[in-house]
Amino acid sequence: MTTDQLAKDGVTPELILAIETSCDETSAAVVRGGREVLSNVVSSQIATHQQFGGVVPEIASRKHVETITRITEQAVQEAGIELRDLSAIAVTQGPGLVGALLVGIIAAKSLAMALDVPLIGTHHIAGHIYANQLVHDLQYPLLALVASGGHTELVLVEREGEFRIIGRTRDDAVGEAYDKVARSLKLPYPGGPHIDRLAQQAETATPLPRSWLEADSYDFSFSGLKSAVLGVINQHGMKGLTLDEGALARGFQESVIEVLTEKAIRAAKAFDVRQLLLCGGVAANSGLREVLGARCEAEGIPLLLPPLSLCSDNAAMIAAAAHLKWTRRQFTELDMKGDPGLPLEDWSVSRHGSDR
Ligand code: KG4
Ligand code: ZN
Repeated sequence: MTTDQLAKDGVTPELILAIETSCDETSAAVVRGGREVLSNVVSSQIATHQQFGGVVPEIASRKHVETITRITEQAVQEAGIELRDLSAIAVTQGPGLVGALLVGIIAAKSLAMALDVPLIGTHHIAGHIYANQLVHDLQYPLLALVASGGHTELVLVEREGEFRIIGRTRDDAVGEAYDKVARSLKLPYPGGPHIDRLAQQAETATPLPRSWLEADSYDFSFSGLKSAVLGVINQHGMKGLTLDEGALARGFQESVIEVLTEKAIRAAKAFDVRQLLLCGGVAANSGLREVLGARCEAEGIPLLLPPLSLCSDNAAMIAAAAHLKWTRRQFTELDMKGDPGLPLEDWSVSRHGSDR
């Protein structure tokens, strides 16, 4: 049964408690019927990792251990429910940092076992995509532009819960490129919001290359652009010239946005999708939201943007994706292991139970 059929049939919507610990946010949420967010508690570790200029996996795991119980209790309390009301426990199974995933998975398994409710291992990127279902009505086929710290992908979703990656980055993820460029400009981690702000304020843009790859490819590449930025910084350093950081940030951002936007629009037209959806941490980028919005309007393609609170990692998005499996009674065994490289396509609802 799809989400819409369930709603029409008047089936009592389930309550899913979801846990997300794949990177540097410890989050727990309670969502009803895959759409109604009763609570979504996010505890960020950014302040801890900032002093190292990026996420330190061992520290991330330790921080998750310290906070997971409190965050989970808070999510249940804020939702105004009792643990016994829960229908299922969802948790990010992958991709992510293996030690960090493990903390959430152990917590989720313990709860599922103690409450005797099903466990739903969930794909992190499916979560980013289905975060949009918390605020929009999805219409298929749709195309998702996934832009986060670990992923840059164009995902064709032909039916609910069916994922096909038609383009992906061949090197750095877009958020990773933002963070590396920011680091070379001595801006704090995570660098995306800082570059975004500098770019918005700048009046000029440093000319930088666009990486289009082969004419028919929907793949991305950001390492050449990143090297070009480093080249400009080094040249200025060697010649003792003052660097216009704003212009450089704007040049970098314009290159990233142009390539992401044009490839997404071309794919949306080629696959004749009904909606284009943006998701992942970089979906918070003001320039990307603006340019993609204008291009979609010009092309007559409906664009779905998640609110900023649902762009970065959070557990409500994991509950939204887990709902797809709940409606199909596709549950996960209690001996499930975290999978740092879990393929999105394998998590499609039609693949449930098939050999990996
Ligand atoms: O999705 P996310 O929270 O975590 C992953 O699953 O990777 O994405 C985090 C990434 C970071 O690289 C961060 O710099 C980037 O999203 N980011 C941004 C902006 N806000 C966050 N990048 C560009 N512009 C922003 N405004
Ligand atoms: Zn993420």
